[in-house]
Amino acid sequence: YGEFNQKIDYVFKVVLIGDSAVGKSQLLARFARNEFSIDSKATIGVEFQTRTLNIDQKTIKAQIWDTAGQERYRAVTSAYYRGAVGAMLVYDITKRQSFDHVARWLEELRSHADRNIVIMLIGNKSDLGSLRAVPTEDAKEFAQRENLFFMETSALEATNVESAFMTVLSDIY
Ligand code: GTP
Ligand code: MG
Repeated sequence: YGEFNQKIDYVFKVVLIGDSAVGKSQLLARFARNEFSIDSKATIGVEFQTRTLNIDQKTIKAQIWDTAGQERYRAVTSAYYRGAVGAMLVYDITKRQSFDHVARWLEELRSHADRNIVIMLIGNKSDLGSLRAVPTEDAKEFAQRENLFFMETSALEATNVESAFMTVLSDIY
């Protein structure tokens, strides 16, 4: 019963969104391949990676989609959100503006995605605590008000990345 002929019980599409350079692609690299790159290039268009895992003795294929935070490089919005059952809305804890834009991303998400989509707000780059510009409490309150899960992560140090994705995938399941 090897990895390659494993029976898949469910395929869950999860989308990554948020401003450019907050670390979406590196969160995905960490979750899908346990890799990290310091000189990550801005994403152009859409990419996705999958990881097969088990929840409750079921085999789940997580198909994680990643697109550009930069408007000019972004893919067609409706196609990106189509069929998504989970979303990771990422900001950078050292960039206030990336957090101020979260409301806008949420609006786009809610107008294009399924109404039951499971959403995780992620404050990434928690390893850069000395440069923090967004208090944890502000994000926690926002998440509570908007009914989102919330975690701070570090793709660099692999802190909470597994936990953030697993929380969303388990909740979808
Ligand atoms: P776009 O594709 O343009 O939307 O950007 P993105 O959100 O995919 O950002 P990306 O993953 O390419 O990361 C941007 C920069 O932040 C890169 O230099 C990464 O190495 C760095 N980075 C990502 N995650 C972390 C982290 O957890 N900590 C630190 N210190 N740097 C990180
Ligand atoms: Mg990217």
